[in-house]
Amino acid sequence: MYDKGKIIGGLAVFLCLASFPVWYMAASGKADYRTNHVLPASENQCVESAQYMKEYHMQLMQEWRDQAVRQGDNTYISSDNRTFDINLTGTCFKCHTNKADFCDRCHNYTGTAPNCWDCHNIPPANTPPKVTE
Ligand code: HEC
Ligand code: HEC
Ligand code: HEC
Repeated sequence: MYDKGKIIGGLAVFLCLASFPVWYMAASGKADYRTNHVLPASENQCVESAQYMKEYHMQLMQEWRDQAVRQGDNTYISSDNRTFDINLTGTCFKCHTNKADFCDRCHNYTGTAPNCWDCHNIPPANTPPKVTE
């Protein structure tokens, strides 16, 4: 015999946990939050697809570092065969000209604080007032 009470109780707990992100987002008023990060106006394509960049830019940057620093190879060939100079400051920020309005808007929201800028330069044009939401 199954214990109906326990099954229903267990189901209730499960549903409650499984739906946590939904009601938490609703209750915290973040459900319709937009980071409003600003994409480059003069370019229409990133190094890789936008979807790939959204999900994997951190890994891509690690790969760039390893390739450049450990293997001494500063040329990145994208999956659609375009060639890029491996350079955080000179390449990423050539197109994404405003770190505060682009990188920081997402990172502030997710509480991500990459330490790259302790050593790598942010081009001077890239330092307007910080966005904090
Ligand atoms: C402690 C200092 C330091 C920190 C922090 C740091 N780097 Fe670097 N990085 C360097 C140095 C030094 C080089 C070698 C520069 C050269 O060869 O001209 C380098 C080179 C690189 C390169 C290849 C060349 C270039 O200028 O782009 C990439 C890509 C890179 N780092 C990515 C990153 C990323 C991503 C982060 C943050 C997650 C980071 N680094 C944090 C010191 C640092
Ligand atoms: C040649 C110009 C160019 C370079 C170089 C470039 N980007 Fe992009 N990036 C873009 C454009 C344009 C988009 C928007 C593409 C789209 O919407 O299809 C974009 C999108 C992105 C996105 C996704 C944002 C979103 O919400 O769609 C991230 C993250 C990103 N870039 C990070 C980087 C990083 C990190 C580097 C350096 C490793 C870099 N980009 C180099 C032009 C560039
Ligand atoms: C569409 C939102 C978005 C944009 C735009 C964006 N990032 Fe990120 N980035 C994230 C998220 C989310 C994470 C955290 C992923 C995680 O915690 O695993 C992250 C993580 C990183 C990391 C790794 C940090 C760590 O501590 O490991 C680096 C480096 C980084 N981003 C660099 C950049 C740079 C440089 C730009 C601008 C050229 C940029 N990102 C633009 C969303 C974004």
